[in-house]
Amino acid sequence: MELPFAESYKIKMVETIKRSTREEREKWLKEAYFNLFNLRSEYVYIDLLTDSGTGAMSDKQWSKMMVGDESYAGASSYLIMKDTIKTLFGFNDFLPTHQGRAAENVLFSLLVKEGDIVPGNSHFDTTKGHIEFRKAKAIDCTIDEAFHPTQYHPFKGNLDLNKLEEVFKSNSIEKIPFIVVTLTCNSSGGQPVSMQNLKDVHAISKKHGTKVIFDSARFAENAYFIKIRENGYQDKTIKEIVKEMYTYSDAMTMSSKKDAIVNMGGFIGFSDRQMYEEASVYNIMFEGFVTYGGMSGRDMNALSQGLMEGTEFDYLETRIKQVEYLGEKLKSYNVPMLEPFGGHAIFLDAKKFLPAIPKEEYIAQKLATEIYLEGGVRAVEIGTLLADRDPVTRENRYPELELVRLALPRRVYTNSHMDYIAAAVANVYERRNEITRGLKILREAPIMRHFTVELERL
Ligand SMILES: Cc1ncc(COP(=O)(O)O)c(C=O)c1O
Repeated sequence: MELPFAESYKIKMVETIKRSTREEREKWLKEAYFNLFNLRSEYVYIDLLTDSGTGAMSDKQWSKMMVGDESYAGASSYLIMKDTIKTLFGFNDFLPTHQGRAAENVLFSLLVKEGDIVPGNSHFDTTKGHIEFRKAKAIDCTIDEAFHPTQYHPFKGNLDLNKLEEVFKSNSIEKIPFIVVTLTCNSSGGQPVSMQNLKDVHAISKKHGTKVIFDSARFAENAYFIKIRENGYQDKTIKEIVKEMYTYSDAMTMSSKKDAIVNMGGFIGFSDRQMYEEASVYNIMFEGFVTYGGMSGRDMNALSQGLMEGTEFDYLETRIKQVEYLGEKLKSYNVPMLEPFGGHAIFLDAKKFLPAIPKEEYIAQKLATEIYLEGGVRAVEIGTLLADRDPVTRENRYPELELVRLALPRRVYTNSHMDYIAAAVANVYERRNEITRGLKILREAPIMRHFTVELERL
């Protein structure tokens, strides 16, 4: 008999999670104003709100924490992180930050000015937030295939080179400080970008004389897809692929809470010394001195170890196969999803799932709340709430896709949990025809409203 695939790790420490009743969940959801971010984590049985900062660190990461150097300046933990970043990405200079959006804040303070244009592939919400906060504009140049939920394309995170060229044609180059490439592309479903596309985008940027910044939260998952799907990379290691990817960028922002498998942390990597020096001023103002920038020494140690583990093929194969396992289970129940499955999550197609609800009633948020009510599984809306209002007209922006993301924390849940999640979603799907009304906003913040919005049932 052929031996089946199995995880590349075993469990050394466990955390108890509790199931609840539907009546309890009804009460808690109302108290949370139908915003799953407002729920206490103890009210959640399986938490798929995010894969960010929710991973399980390894025994080696924990052991490195014990030998963290907490010196204010020049700590060995900083130097280890510097070496790791140089080894993996080829960057000589880096700035630690407390998380990904802090890296964006520091770098964009230097690079983005009022009236600027920043093209990219479906910018992540904090990236877009930091661009719009500076009264600049993010332009989405993702390939059209990304907006067709089930159309197969191996690299649905790719930028459309014609759309990108069009941005350069219709704007002066002084207004385009950089192109941002998000790896993998979270907002379009955790979809990867091919090496060829990275190469082409880089060539376009150099032709016009601007920079390329990689928003790198899931760079290792992206490298895994390049190895599996792109010709010429099958025999390369993940680390070799990552090294090549970053030859096509000028700088990176990193939320280390994803592919570096730590609970908190981030950094900016620079190919250019001058950019590093200029950004250092903002790092000192917003984050901390350049050798710790919002992180403790022990956390930098765990992060460096996590980067090395997160770029191991066996680990990545286990991770992506678990996402696939959940996707295939849901498919067997005919649940509408984005395909191919993303690297870190399954994205449910809420418009197809609940076709009776009008777009003004927050379809994806409604679906996420129904999944919570069904089984205590917490997912997240990637739809109209997240898309926020147009900063000028203040009208709701209705994205082409209304999605519910089931994000899998790294090394946390077993495939029995996947079976449970799939059953909960399938039960909601079975009673989809009874769900005809959505939600109404009672209160919202002027920017990034999805975190704190309060809603009621219609
Ligand atoms: C692609 C991408 N960029 C940036 C961020 C922001 O990172 P952080 O949450 O660490 O601030 C995230 C977080 O989810 C992300 O997915």
